[in-house]
Amino acid sequence: MNFNHFAQKLLQWYPENKRDLPWRNTQNPYIIWLSEIILQQTRVAQGLPYFQKFIENYPTVEDLAASPQEEILRLWQGLGYYSRARNLHKCAKQVVEDHQGSFPDSYKGLLKLQGIGQYTAAAIASFAYREKVAVLDGNVFRVLSRYFGISTDISSTEGKKEFQSLANKAISPNQPDEYNQAIMEFGALQCTPKKADCNSCPLQPGCYAYNNNLVEKLPVKNKKIKVSTRAFLYHDIQCNGKIVTKTRGPRDIWEGLTDFPLVEFQSPEKIDPEASKLFHELQAFNPTIHFEGEKTYKHILTHQKIFSNFVSFKIPDNHQKALEKWVKDNGFLLNDPDELEALGKPKLIVRYLNDKK
Ligand code: ADE
Repeated sequence: MNFNHFAQKLLQWYPENKRDLPWRNTQNPYIIWLSEIILQQTRVAQGLPYFQKFIENYPTVEDLAASPQEEILRLWQGLGYYSRARNLHKCAKQVVEDHQGSFPDSYKGLLKLQGIGQYTAAAIASFAYREKVAVLDGNVFRVLSRYFGISTDISSTEGKKEFQSLANKAISPNQPDEYNQAIMEFGALQCTPKKADCNSCPLQPGCYAYNNNLVEKLPVKNKKIKVSTRAFLYHDIQCNGKIVTKTRGPRDIWEGLTDFPLVEFQSPEKIDPEASKLFHELQAFNPTIHFEGEKTYKHILTHQKIFSNFVSFKIPDNHQKALEKWVKDNGFLLNDPDELEALGKPKLIVRYLNDKK
């Protein structure tokens, strides 16, 4: 296989076609790391404002390490997969406390940090330190499988090994940084999942998939993700301008985010305020109740589909003291609207609050 030709074509294509992005043209590992973590969560267009917010708030890794976790979660709000945001914080602290504020300068050293896997370590090591380690993300899988005609399932262990080995052979030894950027950008702009632009492609003559009519068929990805359905009934409880909240605990989605008290049901059809223990307990405070049964908020995560309804309770001010005790006994909190605004919340809650405005 002519790896040299492949790399040269990508290296020619890249400077003529690349997008001008703020994390390029820097060798600062902090900026590269931050951008890569955000871009694992979202596309470039959606990721850009998050990147800018983070850099403005935390110009250095020391600033990020010193920030309260709630502030980081709030800035991360909307990106999803909040364990990444928590790992971001842990990693910044590790760099400051264990490495005097400088990221380790090798692939192996970077892999030891919290939340940095093979892809991120390869990206930082190559972009910041020009180490010859190939990045392997969805774009790279696609370009390699099409050009070299590899039909091994990219979600299998065997496939990952085969592609990593191929990627390590294909990388340019002299310009590993440019090459890695180039192949990812090529996958994002030219060799796209659907409607790949083969007519204007500089790699077309040697492309196995193009020559064998397999562009639409490659790469092969068989793993089906199992998606479970969950049904939440949220309790929006207000008294004297304050609202009852709950910080989400470990071993479930959205750890550390601020939520409303909720009861979970077997399926969306079974959501019923009358079957909620909280609903019955709250009767003691003589609330005005409103149930938006017809209004279901749907939220889709990689492994879970969440359907939720909200039931609201307006509790007269004279019950505030008793409510405060109930809140405390249940491990809930009472927040005023400014506090709630400043805390990181699941998207569902943000959507609901916006609809109420
Ligand atoms: N996606 C992941 N990393 C990227 C990068 N450095 N530039 C553009 N898109 C990316």
